[in-house]
Amino acid sequence: MTGTATPLSIRAVLPADEGDIAELIAAAFGQPDEAHLVRELRACGALVLERVACDPSGQIVGHVAFSRVTGAGQGHRLEISCLAPVSVWPNLQKQGIGSALIRAALDDLRAAGEDLVLVLGPPAYYPRFGFDPVLARKVSAPYAGDAFQALALTPAARDGLPVEVTFATPFEAFE
Ligand SMILES: CC(C)(COP(=O)(O)OP(=O)(O)OC[C@H]1O[C@@H](n2cnc3c(N)ncnc32)[C@H](O)[C@@H]1OP(=O)(O)O)[C@@H](O)C(=O)NCCC(=O)NCCS
Repeated sequence: MTGTATPLSIRAVLPADEGDIAELIAAAFGQPDEAHLVRELRACGALVLERVACDPSGQIVGHVAFSRVTGAGQGHRLEISCLAPVSVWPNLQKQGIGSALIRAALDDLRAAGEDLVLVLGPPAYYPRFGFDPVLARKVSAPYAGDAFQALALTPAARDGLPVEVTFATPFEAFE
């Protein structure tokens, strides 16, 4: 079980944060590709929600982005988004920052009426937030397997599947 060592504040992103966020994402992934993805998602208006975690001095220590996913077929009315990427400064990982950030962001998405959230990530990490690879089998996407997981935030999402989904165009570079 991990715990947050220092009190965190979690807030929306301001335009002045964008440089710090790009540095953080590149440091977390050890390459610039994911930071570039976020810039592209922002530029094409695909971001649904973006949050940063800040330490008590106001320094950004974590970031998460959710982008719009387009549904077709039975579940076409569902509001669907994709969690990617999530980043925590390498020297601050495994202290609960990523979990606090993801939980707060999911609460905000739920409050905003989002129905379904998808993620492609480690099956050892995302089930703690309720993501489920079995539910994701009802989502027809370019991804499959246990890394592809889905979280229903509303009863409509649980009852409204199956759905065929298309991710925002900048993800095509990652397929
Ligand atoms: C993934 C990430 C955001 C998690 O943030 P964090 O603050 O380190 O996570 P927390 O402290 O909240 O949770 C730590 C737990 O997550 C697990 N975890 C972290 N990264 C993991 C990974 N890639 N695969 C599996 N488990 C992972 C840890 O083993 C730990 O498990 P435990 O609670 O059972 O001990 C962070 O490690 C990171 O930035 N990684 C590099 C970028 C990345 O891979 N992003 C996600 C891609 S889907």
